[in-house]
Amino acid sequence: MNNFEFKNPTKIIFGKDTIEKLESEITSDAKVLLLYGGGSIKKNGIYEQVTKALSKVKVVEFGGIPANPEYSILMEALKVIKDEKITYLLAVGGGSVIDGTKFLSAAAVYNGDTPWDILTKKIRTEKGMPFGTVLTLPATGSEMNSGAVITRAETKEKLSMGGPGLFPEFSILDPQVIRSIPERQLANGLADAFTHVLEQYMTYPIGALLQDRFAESILQTLIEVTPKVLKDPTDYKSAADFMWSCTMALNGLIQKGVPGDWAVHMMGHELTALFGIDHARTLAVITPSHYKYNFEAKKEKLAQYGERVWNITEGSIDDKAYAAIERTEAFFHELGIDTKLSDYTKDYEGTAEEIAKRFTDRGWKGLGEHQNLSPDKVEKIVKMAY
Ligand code: NZQ
Ligand code: ZN
Repeated sequence: MNNFEFKNPTKIIFGKDTIEKLESEITSDAKVLLLYGGGSIKKNGIYEQVTKALSKVKVVEFGGIPANPEYSILMEALKVIKDEKITYLLAVGGGSVIDGTKFLSAAAVYNGDTPWDILTKKIRTEKGMPFGTVLTLPATGSEMNSGAVITRAETKEKLSMGGPGLFPEFSILDPQVIRSIPERQLANGLADAFTHVLEQYMTYPIGALLQDRFAESILQTLIEVTPKVLKDPTDYKSAADFMWSCTMALNGLIQKGVPGDWAVHMMGHELTALFGIDHARTLAVITPSHYKYNFEAKKEKLAQYGERVWNITEGSIDDKAYAAIERTEAFFHELGIDTKLSDYTKDYEGTAEEIAKRFTDRGWKGLGEHQNLSPDKVEKIVKMAY
């Protein structure tokens, strides 16, 4: 196991009817900016619960943060923060609203002229404006980590940011919120969380037995709850397992002491930036090709995953590893998620070259756990995913 340090300061308030606990998490002298997305919270009762719990503090609202939070819209919210002298941010939404709020937390205290520099210059935020979240969509883990991904339509870019100052102070996780989530978004959440675990697990063995088993148990739990969650999102037991699995998949715990990959996400983000494909679906497009291309480097972990998670016990390491890739692709299909770029766009020719060029222009020399996936290799992987 590699050396590591671990600190996660986010307080999790988990369970049925917990949104009312907001009241005791934000001090009464705060001036709160309540941030939300396209309006689902106004149809499913979450907005009423939140505003009731906030009745004793001053609240200003900012809605309309789109999926893949858009820089130009967030800049409007930043103006509200400054004009209204906001002191506390509250995200009520999925990964997009929470990530947008993290950007605002950083931008509110940033001294430079152009907040976009936080993303392009990789400026880490040591202390942002304090914020909390009410999670409405299990998927990203953003509710308990310090990372965010922001999109800029003008330049077709989607870039990551973060820093120790960007953990939510608290996150309220009431699994009942999944009742109103459309099936497509439930499938996205399952696929995203599943891939988060894979990114931190599908590397090479380093003998971190506990982290391997943490990762495998999250994968097994997601697989077990998938049919139940899709069939009946009002089934509280499955909703609770689903929600907690998504948070555990990306709150930093399972990545401690082990190598990480994240190349699937790096390539996937470009597909969202170029074509607007849902985040989770881009991961399903890239994952099978990525594992096939890097088969030799990853086959031991692939075989272990195949055996322990999918009960693939027949054949050699190579056989099991290959079957594990096929089984993973089949899992995405079971979620109703297509796994080829051409399933999403007819305009795919040239995509691999464009992504490789973007990585070269950004000076990204090598992705993956060995940091050896140079832009020319990325180009090959993306082409395999057409
Ligand atoms: O905007 P509203 O109207 O609220 O509707 C949303 C949105 O259309 C809807 N929704 C959310 N909760 C709902 C609901 N509809 C009905 N009932 C509810 N309870 O779902 C749609 C998608 O929401 P979004 O927040 O975009 O989804 P998700 O949570 O999957 O977030 C995706 C974003 O997170 C980033 C992605 O890149 C993408 O931009 N990621 C963030 C990560 C992080 N911070 O750690 C890691 C991830 O890998 C990912 O990159
Ligand atoms: Zn993701």
